[in-house]
Amino acid sequence: SGQSVNELRESFLKFFESKKHHRERSSLLIPQNDPTLLFTNAGMVQFKDLFTGKEKRNYSRATTCQKCVRAGGKHNDLESVGFTKRHHTFFEMLGNFSFGDYFKKEAIEYAWEYLTKVVGLNPNQLWVSVFENDDEALELWVKISGLPRERIVKMGEKDNFWAMGDTGPCGPCSEIYVDRGEAYGKDETIFDGGERFLEIWNLVFMQFERFADGKMIPLPRPSVDTGMGLERLASVVQNVENNYMIDGMQSVLQGFAHLVKRPYGKNESDDVALKVLTDHIRACTFLISDGVQPSNEGRGYVLRRILRRAIRYGKKLGCNRPFFHEGVDFVEREMGGAYPELTQNLSAVKNIIYYEEEKFFETLENGLKLLETKMKAVKKGGALSGDVAFQLYDTFGFPLDLTEVILKEHHLSVDHAGFQKELEAQRDRSRASWKGSGQEGVSEIYKEISAKGMKTEFVGYSKLEADTKILAIVANGKLVDELEVGLEVGLAGEIVIGTSPFYAQGGGQVGDAGTLEGKEISFVVQEAFKPVKDLFVLKGELKKGSLKVGASVSAKVDQERRLERLRRHGPGKQVQAPDQRPDHDRSGRRAPGR
Ligand code: ALA
Repeated sequence: SGQSVNELRESFLKFFESKKHHRERSSLLIPQNDPTLLFTNAGMVQFKDLFTGKEKRNYSRATTCQKCVRAGGKHNDLESVGFTKRHHTFFEMLGNFSFGDYFKKEAIEYAWEYLTKVVGLNPNQLWVSVFENDDEALELWVKISGLPRERIVKMGEKDNFWAMGDTGPCGPCSEIYVDRGEAYGKDETIFDGGERFLEIWNLVFMQFERFADGKMIPLPRPSVDTGMGLERLASVVQNVENNYMIDGMQSVLQGFAHLVKRPYGKNESDDVALKVLTDHIRACTFLISDGVQPSNEGRGYVLRRILRRAIRYGKKLGCNRPFFHEGVDFVEREMGGAYPELTQNLSAVKNIIYYEEEKFFETLENGLKLLETKMKAVKKGGALSGDVAFQLYDTFGFPLDLTEVILKEHHLSVDHAGFQKELEAQRDRSRASWKGSGQEGVSEIYKEISAKGMKTEFVGYSKLEADTKILAIVANGKLVDELEVGLEVGLAGEIVIGTSPFYAQGGGQVGDAGTLEGKEISFVVQEAFKPVKDLFVLKGELKKGSLKVGASVSAKVDQERRLERLRRHGPGKQVQAPDQRPDHDRSGRRAPGR
């Protein structure tokens, strides 16, 4: 078979089909059965309940190429992307799985056969690690691969015991490494975690389920979960020194290089920016296509941060108006064959990114104005206070180094320690605010509102529009009297209304979207939900004016959207529809993709 990324993906799936595995589609990036997980971050996530026996399907072997995102939450690689060879927010994980079917022997046989026979890696370059107590796996490797014993090494729990999280299925694992030769580190060993010995495939022998109290009990039947990063495999096979050089990434990267007119490989800082754009457009395209929308909380917030980081790097490359959305085409061209949803959602995804870009460029301008004002107050040769630097970072999306560069031009500096302190405080706040996806558990605030006797009358069976009163407003998890558009256009809020033509999400029902409108007021409803009995809450963003408790507004359901959602996503899935935006922006330019 060929060795392009697309060919490798297909050759892996075909190989395991030939070994009687069911080819399953990648699951969505929004985990459907795990409210504690921010994004799908491994191939086994969709199979979690199959390992424990809680769920049954009509196959006991499966193979997938899984879309994964590791950004936000516990494993956050976002700030490293661009500066390293192998950190990504989005990547693809190849895997084969046995649900109580085969175990260690076959897992090792298949991996060895695929790598040495199908992909054609040289056995002399391969090394293996096993869990220190797992002599069984060690002996199997000796027998099956014929590798000399000194190339099968034992490692401890930290490296060779895999668990999805604090709880859930887990077990000892065995990892396969490629020695890329002395050129990558003459004196390096497999234990160093450097560039020479690259870990490519992890075979997990799922044997236990771990519970919150730390207890581990054996699974009903031993199982197998494996994971191999497609980009990594391709970098080895294509013999390139970093993941951005593989064909599947280069096609996107060169697309951007051409778009911004900066060739790759000419200077370090342009290259960092091009890598950031390449990585981030993949993440943004896939996340939005899977139903995540930029917002100020949870998953939407992580997406917004990725988007903004990309736009900032674009600015460094000289882009001063929306450009990033163009990258959706590069991703679709490269990956639309393997992921048809990209082609299907192409114009919606581009629109959402375009809209976010337009808003953010405006925000950046406002930030510059603020910085100019604050700079005037700083003494000659002095430092800008940490909290202003943080405000610029947090509200206006200025990375610290951008602020610094501007200050330097005026022979000023910045209070780093003060900035760090604010940053830490924010990290604590966001850690505290991510309490699962909200699929489970009712926020106390709605219980309180309901306890005050507030109720919504549902009229959606017969009406798509209704006049209604605003009963309560929740912003950032707190009750407020008023929501008002300030500097940041698109203020997130949750509005409790008295009369609802909106269907609420839940019980297999897809929530409606639409608008709340009044004089000089526009609130875009992204989703209706019912956190407690008889209380309808509209989640969305205020685009114009202000909303006050007690005010009357007219609520309108977007009927097309209702049908579209049901048709496209089927009931029971939480998918947020694309934002509503006019066909033309203010400058009269035509929006992309329409
Ligand atoms: N689930 C294992 C991993 O992510 C294969 O490494």
